[in-house]
Amino acid sequence: MNDYPRVLETPDPTLYLQRPRVLSSLLLHDHITEPANNAHLRQTEPWAEDYTWGDAYGDTVNVCRSMKTGGDMMQYWLMGADRQDASFHLAGRVTLYEHKGTEAYIGYHVGVTDCRRGFATTASQRIVEHARGMWGINTVLLAIAEGNVASQGVARKLGALPTECFKNSASRGQVYTRRVWRWELD
Ligand SMILES: CC(C)(COP(=O)(O)OP(=O)(O)OC[C@H]1O[C@@H](n2cnc3c(N)ncnc32)[C@H](O)[C@@H]1OP(=O)(O)O)[C@@H](O)C(=O)NCCC(=O)NCCS
Repeated sequence: MNDYPRVLETPDPTLYLQRPRVLSSLLLHDHITEPANNAHLRQTEPWAEDYTWGDAYGDTVNVCRSMKTGGDMMQYWLMGADRQDASFHLAGRVTLYEHKGTEAYIGYHVGVTDCRRGFATTASQRIVEHARGMWGINTVLLAIAEGNVASQGVARKLGALPTECFKNSASRGQVYTRRVWRWELD
């Protein structure tokens, strides 16, 4: 069973989504550990610290296994057009996780040189459109740190609203608390 197309096109010709491949996990490692990207990601993402090739491999294996076996996770990699030429490069990831019934959480990150191109918003809309058809979800939740203005901006643009609930997330030995935002799909 595999209802995950290799590519999901988006309305933005400079962005498409690609299904993750274990063989490409070195690319993911290089994206996350590139010094400027890593400094940007570590401001809000504890998992980006000391990120090894083993982490990139393990994360990708997990998500590919989930997508192969009908698990609760779906991920696509953002492929963005270079600003100078027509080539595409890995620009970030968007992940739906903890899918249960009609709800799922979403998470995303975008490399520092590709920020403010609308990528996080467009990629979220596209993966959610796919999940809506495939999983039948009608609510998407976002767990966002209180000081993360950029992610709050994405959430607002998607039509999500902050709730009074908080979620504890654990990642690579660290636990952190974030406010839950709720995006009701109409
Ligand atoms: C959060 C993040 C994914 C945003 O990615 P992006 O592709 O730049 O987001 P978009 O271009 O879709 O921005 C959508 C809106 O969010 C807001 N926004 C985005 N970045 C912002 C920033 N640095 N400061 C203030 N508002 C910001 C804006 O309102 C923007 O709309 P506009 O450009 O039309 O004004 C990116 O900054 C990132 O990877 N941060 C580190 C990882 C992270 O925080 N992930 C989310 C964890 S909850």
